[in-house]
Amino acid sequence: MRDKAVELVNKYLESEHLIKHSYAVEAVMRALANKLEPDKVDEWAITGLLHDLDSDMLDYKNNIEDCKVHGFKSVEILKNEKLGNECMYQAIKAHNEDYNGVKRETLMDKAIYAADPITGFITAITLVYPDKKIASVKVKSIIKRMKELRFAAGANRDAMRSIEEVGIPFDEFAQISLDAMKEISDTLGL
Ligand SMILES: [Fe+2]
Repeated sequence: MRDKAVELVNKYLESEHLIKHSYAVEAVMRALANKLEPDKVDEWAITGLLHDLDSDMLDYKNNIEDCKVHGFKSVEILKNEKLGNECMYQAIKAHNEDYNGVKRETLMDKAIYAADPITGFITAITLVYPDKKIASVKVKSIIKRMKELRFAAGANRDAMRSIEEVGIPFDEFAQISLDAMKEISDTLGL
C-alpha cells in the first residue's frame, strides 16, 4: 500500500513544502501508532502521508469554499485510485474538522489532528537554529515556543495540545514527534 501511496503523493502534489510535510506527518503518525494502536501502524502512517493529497488543487488558504472541501476531495481521489479504507477516509476528512465539520471520533482521527500542526511547528523551530538542522533541536525549545504565540502564529497550539485527549502528555508528544522527524531529516531537508 505504501508504494501506491508514494506514487499518489508524486502524482497529486507538486509543492515541495507539501510533499515534505506529508512525509513528516507520516513519520509522526507511524510513531504515534506504535504507541496507541500497534496493529495499525501502516494504516496510520499512510493516512498521514495522504492526508493533504488535495492541497495543491485547492486554494484553501484564500478561498473559504475550498477550505470546506479540503479532506473530502482527497477522499474522492483515493476512492477513484482505489486506495485506502473507511477508517483512513474518516481520519483524512476529520483532520480538517475546524473547516469541514467532520468530527474527530477515533484515536487515529485525534492523532492526525495534533500531528498535522506539530510538524510545521518543529520545522519552523529548526529553521531559527543557527545551523538549521533538526538534529540540534531539543524538546525544551518546542515547549518554550508553544508559549510564544507570535512565533509560528499559524501553528494551532490547541490542536497540538489536543493530543492529551488520547492520553499522551504534550511534552511526550513533542519528543515523539521530534524523534520521528529526526529519523527522516534527509527527506525533510533539515
Ligand atoms: Fe497537513
